[in-house]
Parts: sequence; structure tokens; C-alpha cells
Amino acid sequence: MAGASGYAGGEILRLLLAHPRFEVGAVTAASSAGERLGDVHPHLVPLADRVLDVTTAPTLSGHDVVFLALPHGHSGALAAQLPESVVVIDCGADFRLESEADWTTFYDTAYAGSWPYGLPELRGPAGSVQRDQLAGATRIAVPGCYPTGVSLALAPGFAAGLLEAEDVVVVAASGTSGAGRSLKPHLLGSEVMGSMSPYGVGGGHRHTPEIEQNLSRAAGEPVTVSFTPTLAPMPRGILATCTARLRSGADRASVRAAWEAAYADEPFVHVLPEGSWPATASVVGSNHVQLQVAVDERLGRVVVVSAIDNLTKGTAGAAVQCANLALGLEETLGLPIAGVAP
Ligand SMILES: NC(=O)c1ccc[n+]([C@@H]2O[C@H](COP(=O)([O-])OP(=O)(O)OC[C@H]3O[C@@H](n4cnc5c(N)ncnc54)[C@H](OP(=O)(O)O)[C@@H]3O)[C@@H](O)[C@H]2O)c1
Repeated sequence: MAGASGYAGGEILRLLLAHPRFEVGAVTAASSAGERLGDVHPHLVPLADRVLDVTTAPTLSGHDVVFLALPHGHSGALAAQLPESVVVIDCGADFRLESEADWTTFYDTAYAGSWPYGLPELRGPAGSVQRDQLAGATRIAVPGCYPTGVSLALAPGFAAGLLEAEDVVVVAASGTSGAGRSLKPHLLGSEVMGSMSPYGVGGGHRHTPEIEQNLSRAAGEPVTVSFTPTLAPMPRGILATCTARLRSGADRASVRAAWEAAYADEPFVHVLPEGSWPATASVVGSNHVQLQVAVDERLGRVVVVSAIDNLTKGTAGAAVQCANLALGLEETLGLPIAGVAP
């Protein structure tokens, strides 16, 4: 586990401790190397006496699976030094984008390429599903947290041909752990508690091209998205409100049927009964995605709300789900579906 001292790394370790088929090997970090894991993540009691190692390829290469949870720009060089037989699951952005132009527009490091995209439930046209790309893969790019919540919210409508490819608008609120663990003044408790604020406004957030890539794949044509993230005074969770224009002929019944059919057999994605609305509190600590879909008949728009835990289905849960698929294990193994409430 590389990046074990971070939020995503800590969540992967929490999930692996409850997984029946994984044993935790090396745990590595950067500035925290040499520290006890128990001092960095006091909640990971069974691993408390492990000492964080420096992140190097030799330390990581003797394992069947390596999870990378590093700041973007650091995964490529490390992964290139790991044997091809090692399953590498990257939680960073480095290998998510298929377009080099998108990468260079939104990121400040060299383009590393793209790996199979780790969102198993992502629908495409003609009934295709991303899961089929992940069985047996030895390199997988775990999606970003916002792209997970937003893409799963809207993909069924694009895959079913019900939505217009333009005028897609998303406003999403995230808990502060989405920004990682390093100290940043605007993430101090005194700044965040009792306040909400937007960031990356005006199309500047790095998850925009990833969301567009996913929805374009679902639609089979280019989709553009206006995406505005906001910071919410909670440690975990993303609530995404996603709206798009309905194509003529699409109505309340066809919309509901498309979403319910897309996720009828999915273990982790559930369309709630009509009248119930997703809440971040319901998915804390779980790999569960809650969705509700409504039609604004006056404006001819669909409104989909999704809730995920950014650290679980939005990162670490997806990473473990992808590892299960890559290794041919049951996809749901070791992954909680029940949240922590209240
Ligand atoms: N947080 C989320 O909700 C979330 C969701 C989806 C994806 N992700 C992605 O997951 C990755 C990790 O995010 P995070 O939230 O866990 O960040 P984080 O809390 O800041 O943790 C970053 C980790 O990377 C290590 N690190 C920093 N610089 C390094 C370097 N030069 N070489 C090796 N290791 C280095 C840190 O070690 P030290 O602490 O010892 O310095 C720490 O273990 C990021 O790419 C992020 O975009 C995060």
C-alpha cells in the first residue's frame, strides 16, 4: 500500500482488514516514513505497530496487488518499475484520462497514458458495461470521487438515449476529506465548520474532463458538462445534483425504467423508492451509491441526485472492488454495503 498515511490509503487499509482474501503487506509513505501506523491512523488498531516505509518500487514489488494512493503525477514512474504481473490499482488521476489534450489542459505534470477505468457499473450503449474491461486486468485507474457520483447518476439516461448531450449541469457538495490530509488553511475547522463554499467554479475543476469522458462513453457521442463543486462542513460524503435536458419522447415512465433497469442487478448502486432521497449519512463507510431520479416536466429536464462516501465508493471501496475483479474474486468481497448511522 503506497500512500498509506493518507486518507485514501487509510481507507483502503481499513477495508483490507475486513477482507477475507487479502493480507496487508508493505505500508509506505513520504514525509511520515518511519512513523508507526498507529500514530497516523489510530483507528487501524490491528496495524498499529506497523512502521511506514519509504515508497520505492523494490519495497512494493514483492506483492500480488499494489494500491497506489499518491498525489497525482507520482504513479507513472513507480508503476513502470513494478513487474507487469503485479496488479496495480491507482487511486490517483494519472491514468484516468484517455485524451492527452484533456490531461495537459487540467494537470501540470506529463501525460502518463491511460489504463482500464475502474468504474465497473458504468453503462455504455448497446448494453455494454465497464466491468467487462476489468476482469484479469493488471493495471486499473480508479475513478475520481466526483466522477463516480456524477457518472453513475447520469450514465443510464445517456446509454438509453434519453438525454441531450449539451446543457448538462452538475452541482455537487463534498466533505473535506476529498482534499486529502495535508494541511491547507482553507480546510481548517474554523474555516469549514458552519459554512459552505464553492471552488473550481467556471469549468476549472480537474474532474470535469473525466465526467465528460464517462458520459460521452455512455452516450456514444461527446457530452459537455457544467460542473460546480462545493465544500461542505462534514468529513466524508458527496451529494451530487445532476440535471440534463430530456430528448423529445422521453417521459417520467421511460426515465424511471431506464435507471431501474441499469442498476437492477448492481450490488452497490441502488435507485431509491420514489419519494426517498439520497443522503450522505446513509452511505458513510459503505461502498453503496444511493440515487433518486425525478423529471421536471415543466422544463423537460431530468434531475438525478446521488450520494456516495468519497473515501469508500469514491476511492478505496472502488479500488478494492477493482482488485476483486482483476483477481477473479467475487466482486463484493470485503466491501460493506451498510452505512454508519446516525
Ligand atoms: N481523498 C479522496 O476523497 C480521494 C478520492 C478519490 C481519489 N483520491 C486520490 O487518491 C490520492 C491520494 O489522496 P488522499 O486524499 O489520500 O491524499 P493525502 O491524504 O494527502 O495522502 C497522500 C499520500 O501520498 C503520500 N505522498 C505524498 N507525496 C509523495 C511522494 N512524493 N511520493 C510518495 N508518496 C507521497 C503521502 O505521504 P506522507 O503523508 O507521508 O507525506 C500520503 O500517504 C490522490 O491522487 C487523490 O486525488 C482521493
